[in-house]
Amino acid sequence: MATNMQGAATGTDGPILVFDSGVGGLTVAREIRRLLPAISLTYLADDAGFSYGDWEEAALIDHISALVGDFVAKVQPRAVVVACNTASTLVLPRLRAELTIPVVGTVPAIKPAAEQTESGQISVLATPGTVRREYTRSLISQFASEISVNLVGSRHLSAIAEDKLAGRPVDLLRLKGEVEACFVSQNDKKTDTVVLACTHYPLLLEELEQVSPWPVRWIDPAPAIARRVCSVLISHQQEGERKVNIHFTTGRSVDPNEFNRFL
Ligand code: DGL
Repeated sequence: MATNMQGAATGTDGPILVFDSGVGGLTVAREIRRLLPAISLTYLADDAGFSYGDWEEAALIDHISALVGDFVAKVQPRAVVVACNTASTLVLPRLRAELTIPVVGTVPAIKPAAEQTESGQISVLATPGTVRREYTRSLISQFASEISVNLVGSRHLSAIAEDKLAGRPVDLLRLKGEVEACFVSQNDKKTDTVVLACTHYPLLLEELEQVSPWPVRWIDPAPAIARRVCSVLISHQQEGERKVNIHFTTGRSVDPNEFNRFL
């Protein structure tokens, strides 16, 4: 396990633990940082388990429960943020049953997309795991039964985002191939809203805009998740609290700059 620590943990009021299979959860961590500039954050990237998209469901639940349980014992956070749709759509009930601190999840932003679409044609771009989930289907029937919802599972998009953050160039043609199924034009109605239902995808927003056949509204739920985190915290930023960032990965060693520019 690779670790980079800057400073020490903050004592009784622990950090917020933000967790993802890789660097995608940094898009959520950056919004939390915007709202809580001095709070301590611990970021856990389970890159040894990346990508979660193809994991078998029962195995993924057990894996995440053990990993997050270990880290909660280790860093004593004041809250856990599962900054991963593929994990949240599966593991939230288990984590909430096992932990005594608030657990905030990240699930596909189908409700705001259904509220904002004008054409009534939306797409949900996610990992194959999130697309398969019962949880996702139930969000659609609860909040988007009146509109047309196109579920698009991408095998490689989160890996392309990992590559971008590691400084490798993004192949726009390959990117286009991953997302072109999002763009539907049917009976004069075109997709006007795409839900970024994987926390990695906002890292590619600029490139996604470049390869889109027409402009769409991209929904990144990170700001809403950060607001939710603020509302459930047991204790907010303390007077005089000093920002501390700690990063863990389960696989490769970490370049602290990769994380720190988001936090
Ligand atoms: N960032 C994760 C999500 O929000 C999953 C990425 C992956 O494991 O491929 O779904």
